[in-house]
Amino acid sequence: LVRIFAYLNYRVPRTRRDIFQTLIKGLQRLEYRGYDSAGVAVDGSGKDHAASISLYKKTGKVKALDEEIYKNNGIDFEAELDTHFGIAHTRWATHGEPSPVNSHPHRSDKNNEFVVIHNGIITNYKELRKYLVSKGYEFESETDTEVIPKLIKYLYDNRENEYVSFSTLVERVIKQLEGAFALVFKSIHFPGEAVATRRGSPLLIGVRCQYELSTEQIPVQYNCGKSGSLHPFFSNQCCSLEEKNLLNRRGSTNALHSVHDRLAVEFYLASDASAIIEHTNKVIYLEDDDVAVVMEGKLYVHRIKRKAGEDPVRVIQTLQMELQQIMKGNFKAFMQKEIFEQPESVVNTMRGRICFDSNTVILGGLSDHLKEIKRCRRLILIGCGTSYHAGVATRQILEELTELPVMIELASDFLDRITPVFRDDVCFFISQSGETADTLMALRYCKQRGALTVGVTNTVGSSICRETDCGVHINAGPEVGVASTKAYTSQFVSLIMFALMLSEDRLSMQQRRLEIINGLKKLPELIKEVLALDDQIKSIADELHHQRSLLVMGRGYNYATCLEGALKIKEITYMHSEGIMAGELKHGPLALIDKHMPVIMIIMRDACYKKCHNALQQITARQGRPIILCCQDDPEISKMAYKTIELPQTVDCLQGILSVIPLQLISFHLAVLRGYDVDCPRNLAKSVTVE
Ligand code: AGP
Repeated sequence: LVRIFAYLNYRVPRTRRDIFQTLIKGLQRLEYRGYDSAGVAVDGSGKDHAASISLYKKTGKVKALDEEIYKNNGIDFEAELDTHFGIAHTRWATHGEPSPVNSHPHRSDKNNEFVVIHNGIITNYKELRKYLVSKGYEFESETDTEVIPKLIKYLYDNRENEYVSFSTLVERVIKQLEGAFALVFKSIHFPGEAVATRRGSPLLIGVRCQYELSTEQIPVQYNCGKSGSLHPFFSNQCCSLEEKNLLNRRGSTNALHSVHDRLAVEFYLASDASAIIEHTNKVIYLEDDDVAVVMEGKLYVHRIKRKAGEDPVRVIQTLQMELQQIMKGNFKAFMQKEIFEQPESVVNTMRGRICFDSNTVILGGLSDHLKEIKRCRRLILIGCGTSYHAGVATRQILEELTELPVMIELASDFLDRITPVFRDDVCFFISQSGETADTLMALRYCKQRGALTVGVTNTVGSSICRETDCGVHINAGPEVGVASTKAYTSQFVSLIMFALMLSEDRLSMQQRRLEIINGLKKLPELIKEVLALDDQIKSIADELHHQRSLLVMGRGYNYATCLEGALKIKEITYMHSEGIMAGELKHGPLALIDKHMPVIMIIMRDACYKKCHNALQQITARQGRPIILCCQDDPEISKMAYKTIELPQTVDCLQGILSVIPLQLISFHLAVLRGYDVDCPRNLAKSVTVE
């Protein structure tokens, strides 16, 4: 997996130093997403700098690449370039181990005629590679990506005339590709031009301009692409006459550019908005199979063929997030910042949706489909990792308030089983990134079967957000730490709000709804109370950090907390941990218990209290010495505990929002004590966009 960042300045003079810094900083904004090597491609040195391309690639952190570049004294860092296009990326190895030769950008040949960066996986790369080898191309890496620059060079070498455009070559390339990709191309044959395209991986373009822009939306241009189009304004054949006229008539209004005649402008291309926000908040989200072209300071969007119902324009959106939102502030790590943001993030999730005066809940994103949702026969909650746990956490209250069967599914297993899905199912796809491949595949699977699909995401413009019939944006703000924390509690609250909205008109539920709405109103203050226990929780982490294993037990509304707590501990402290359903103890897990095995138990005053108390006795009878997350003033429990973490009491179905926080904090402190990189745990990435 690579993380893409590219920067094009057109008639905006920038020194090479500025350009390198912009590219490197763009990568550093993305580095939280996990990577093992990085690289950049820029114009070569000399007067006609665009006539050659220089590549710099390095395994390790982006800092290592930075040092590599600056120790190269062949570069004139003060040289000022009016127009330049540079591409950069960080790689998370999927094909071929981390190494300079496997790093990107990948190139077409020794002269770097074409270079490309790729995010995703080309599933048919073996056939393409065989074909290109048979045409005499020599490969230097083991990656799937390398077939792309070689293929575009092959198409260039065999082009039918001198007028074939860069975008046409790219259109021909992507017609041969299978799999998921976000691509940005650069070539010495098309100096100062950028071509970008995507299918199944996110890609957005930021535009920064001193003057007003020519339009608020870019009309998509269709050309058959069979024999390629001449200049973007003309398609020389095969398109219908009306399309040709449409293209001609549009003239320059079909491009985005500065209204000033010098057309000075800067474009930023990235897999993630957090790499663009510090430069501009004006962005365009590309759709699958869009081919975006920047040429002579103008941005065009092409598509090979028009499909019914497709959006004929790409609207320029304004990013809401601010830079400081993605900066760490005075926290040790993004994860810590995000844990402490939860009093605010849950408020943002509820804002404009819950009216605490009238006790009504409105999820605007679902209102067009509410009737259909109310007629459904079953709810299916689908997600991975923490997002799956948000489904586990809210299943019981959803069943209670909707009186519908509720299935919760790990997306990968759901697809393995080829699970039956029907038109009267409502399927929820819970995903912070909105790009998780398994969840996206499950979404497409359910759509094919006619089910109504609802997205619960945290990323505007993400694939899941765009491909579901409707959805709820959890509004948790950008979550940078790989270990999901505030997204979990916001997903949790969002699903609670859905349950409240769906039961709005059920008289028998009013009492219960009121109790929950009041609970949500008090939630931010109670979260602050739990966060205030941080020092006590840190001292517990001090005792635990040499341990090899840590069991987390609970049941009912807190079973999800056990699973989620165990996942947090596993993924950032690398300590074995397991969430155990307390009711299952006698069926096996009790054999693990002795005075050495660290155990955390969650025992709240809810319907499961007595059964949990029973489980506690089983543990202590085997000299187990559990740390217990319990309610305040519960002497019955405290006297049996080795240590307690006393939490404020809230409504039973909301208690999981409070009980997960000590586990988020314990995992954070354990990781710090063990000296690990909290935000970038080994082997993991923030968004798993491959199956
Ligand atoms: C959770 O801490 C992990 N980062 C991981 O399990 C994550 O929840 C999972 O990959 C799903 O990601 P998504 O919510 O972006 O789909």
